[in-house]
Amino acid sequence: MVKNGYIEAIGHYDDVMKSPAASNIQREINCSGQCVIPGFVDPHTHASFIGLREEEFAMRLNHASYLEIHKMGGGIKNTVQKVRNSPEDELCESTAKRVLNALKSGTTTMEIKSGYGLATEHEIKLLKVINKVGKITPLDIIPTFLGAHAVPEEYSNRENDYVDLVINEMIPSIASKKLAQFCDVACDEGFFSVENSKKILTAARKSGMGLKLHGDELGDFGAAKLAAELKVDSVEHLLATNDEGLRSLANANVLAVLLPATAFSLGVSYARARKMISEGVPVALATDCNPGSCYCESMAFVFMLAVLGMGMSVNEALNAATLNSAYAIKMNKKVGSLDKNKQADFLLLDGESPTVIPYHLGGSVIKSVYKLGEKVS
Ligand code: NIG
Ligand code: FE
Repeated sequence: MVKNGYIEAIGHYDDVMKSPAASNIQREINCSGQCVIPGFVDPHTHASFIGLREEEFAMRLNHASYLEIHKMGGGIKNTVQKVRNSPEDELCESTAKRVLNALKSGTTTMEIKSGYGLATEHEIKLLKVINKVGKITPLDIIPTFLGAHAVPEEYSNRENDYVDLVINEMIPSIASKKLAQFCDVACDEGFFSVENSKKILTAARKSGMGLKLHGDELGDFGAAKLAAELKVDSVEHLLATNDEGLRSLANANVLAVLLPATAFSLGVSYARARKMISEGVPVALATDCNPGSCYCESMAFVFMLAVLGMGMSVNEALNAATLNSAYAIKMNKKVGSLDKNKQADFLLLDGESPTVIPYHLGGSVIKSVYKLGEKVS
């Protein structure tokens, strides 16, 4: 039972109908034959960009690696050029379109990172767009500052100077404008060193931001150990993390956000979800929606890969795509499960259990999407 957008009572129909508030029900939705699950929470996206990179995807199909394209000056830098040349309203339109696609696929709460500006002015522009999209669409949008996504062209071979700019100019300015709730860094081969990642995250923590880390996506780089040392709110990717790195995450109780659609799109091995779960690492799922390594807005697709590709059970995947992913962006008190006093964000599935999500391959399993009690798709 939902009241003013929040869950008032939950349980068996007959029990809920006995509660005092049931005397005043104004509208009933018949969900028979349809399983009800919490709206998906996508805690890792780069969904604020403009222009696609189909030509790079074609290069990857011809066996060029993501890192080779990046080192040739393509990849993130390609999108940075387009974002710098685009006014706020065009970026807003392009971001909102993607966010509404995600909503249709069942995502009711979404994190979006900056990281395609890589200059103070353009990072601020992107974060303003991300915040605005949270106001003009039904979703809850959580903004993350990812100024250290890549070293921009004008700083090539001067990683340390760029890191100084991120720490001394970008973080203070973004924190004072309250534009981001988290700070993230790409700590990987060809991106930012462990030492520089630590410097940036330490500065961000002092300025009041939550911490995230892109780590060990392209190689075993030591990012997991850094994530454990700093006790970040979540560490993401972990495709190549070694056993010791995974144990350090378990010991520090750091949440791992896994992005199986990225591994699928890059044609590389998945993160070792089973090993993580058996070591005791809490696991969440996200799309990583971006124009390079993973052009995907659908958490249902990610859910399917988690089960059929990474060997997670349906219950593990459901928990990872809802409540654990809400923890990854500190939204767990508001969303991520169907509990009294939480937001009435839920999905009706075309099947009697969440198993239909990995079972019905490519099917439209998300029949209806409700945000704060209202049907939004
Ligand atoms: O999470 N360091 C990698 N960043 C993104 C890709 C962004 C892009 O290629 O535009 C990732 O895979
Ligand atoms: Fe990412």
